[in-house]
Amino acid sequence: MKTTIEQVHKHVGEEVTIGAWLANKRSSGKIAFLQLRDGTGFMQGVVVKSNVSEDVFALAKNMTQESSLYVTGTIVEDTRSPLGYEMQVSSLEVIHESVDYPITPKEHGPEFLLDHRHLWLRSKKQHAIMKVRNEIIRATYEFFNSNGYTKVDPPILTGSSAEGTTELFHTKYFEEDAYLSQSGQLYMEAAAMAFGKVFSFGPTFRAEKSKTRRHLIEFWMIEPEMAFMDHDDSLQVQEQYVSHVVQSVLQNCKIELQTLGRDVSKLEAIQAPFPRITYDDAIQILKEKGFDDIEWGEDFGAPHETAIAESFNKPVFITHYPLEIKAFYMKPDPERPDVALCADLIAPEGYGEIIGGSQRIDDLQLMEQRYEEHDLTGDAYQWYLELRKYGSVPHSGFGLGLERTVAWICGIEHVRETIPFPRLLNRLYP
Ligand code: 4AD
Ligand code: MG
Repeated sequence: MKTTIEQVHKHVGEEVTIGAWLANKRSSGKIAFLQLRDGTGFMQGVVVKSNVSEDVFALAKNMTQESSLYVTGTIVEDTRSPLGYEMQVSSLEVIHESVDYPITPKEHGPEFLLDHRHLWLRSKKQHAIMKVRNEIIRATYEFFNSNGYTKVDPPILTGSSAEGTTELFHTKYFEEDAYLSQSGQLYMEAAAMAFGKVFSFGPTFRAEKSKTRRHLIEFWMIEPEMAFMDHDDSLQVQEQYVSHVVQSVLQNCKIELQTLGRDVSKLEAIQAPFPRITYDDAIQILKEKGFDDIEWGEDFGAPHETAIAESFNKPVFITHYPLEIKAFYMKPDPERPDVALCADLIAPEGYGEIIGGSQRIDDLQLMEQRYEEHDLTGDAYQWYLELRKYGSVPHSGFGLGLERTVAWICGIEHVRETIPFPRLLNRLYP
């Protein structure tokens, strides 16, 4: 009977066949231990010389790393492995012999591994990271679908900059100029006026010359947008959503978190509500921590975010940033117009900002004023103004960066390992 490694728990004591690759191997004169992987998981196959034909034992002993095979044997419990099971191999058939696989069990440098990303994805750690990524995506759809949100897909090719900044990839759109989307937000605001509560999930592009462990050129964002919700309502959605994602990973990715050596007690603490501090509080905390030269009105960098996060064992919202350092569409606080009704959510343990969000300006005149201040001329933004003309309502939304969230939950140092094929400042290959 054919099965997969993920399903072997249903076949204890039975003989099954699995299509697999040889990840690694150890052998002596009498026994060979095959580290098998089949895409669904990793499992050890034990080949005992006295139990199999001479041919089978010879095949097992000589098989090369990443050869593909059909392996047949009996599933037995094995409490020492994370999977809990192994296979007592009775026969095997090589499908394709792999020659000189470049990623050997020894250590390789990051550039070498990135050059071989198409193969590196097969390794146990990379497999675990992608499975966690997949679970975060699954839990995201589950959360928004079960809370009355409609998924709406904003365009990738756009005629304007969503964040009003210049970090855009330009392309020709026949005779016109077009840009790859930086954020679907403006379109999601239109969608919220049609469907109430909406979310999107898609790729976004930033031509940022930043070479840090938190920046990708192409990354995936989840962008919910809610009509009739103010800044505080939005923070509640954010903390419930992030808690749901973390708790889902804890429940459904136990083996992967073990493979990654993640301290799960730190993740277990991630339950709503999350602490909230204002930008003013954050400046105060930073001054106390020795950042003497930070001034009110400056944006925070990675060291600042890390220093602030140290004081909390949950993600922390930093709210009410100075209006002038935030995007043109953010609503000023009516009680204090020099700050915005906005928040960044900073992950614990130094992983930095995972969410940026705000209440949006819903007043036509104020938005027109912002257009002038930010020099947003031309037709590209006209439709967005019209949302404030026909039944404008208070509304809020946010964007969660998938890769930074994966990095945090997996405990991975650099975002380059959290996306299948990273696009970095100096990398478009493979
Ligand atoms: O804070 P940002 O720029 O917010 C927006 O784009 C809003 N329009 C979202 C919205 O309100 N709908 O980006 C949101 C998140 C960040 O918090 C971060 O997690 C991630 O996207 N992000 C990046 N991730 C990887 N590489 C980059 N270069 C990123 N830039 C932003
Ligand atoms: Mg931001």
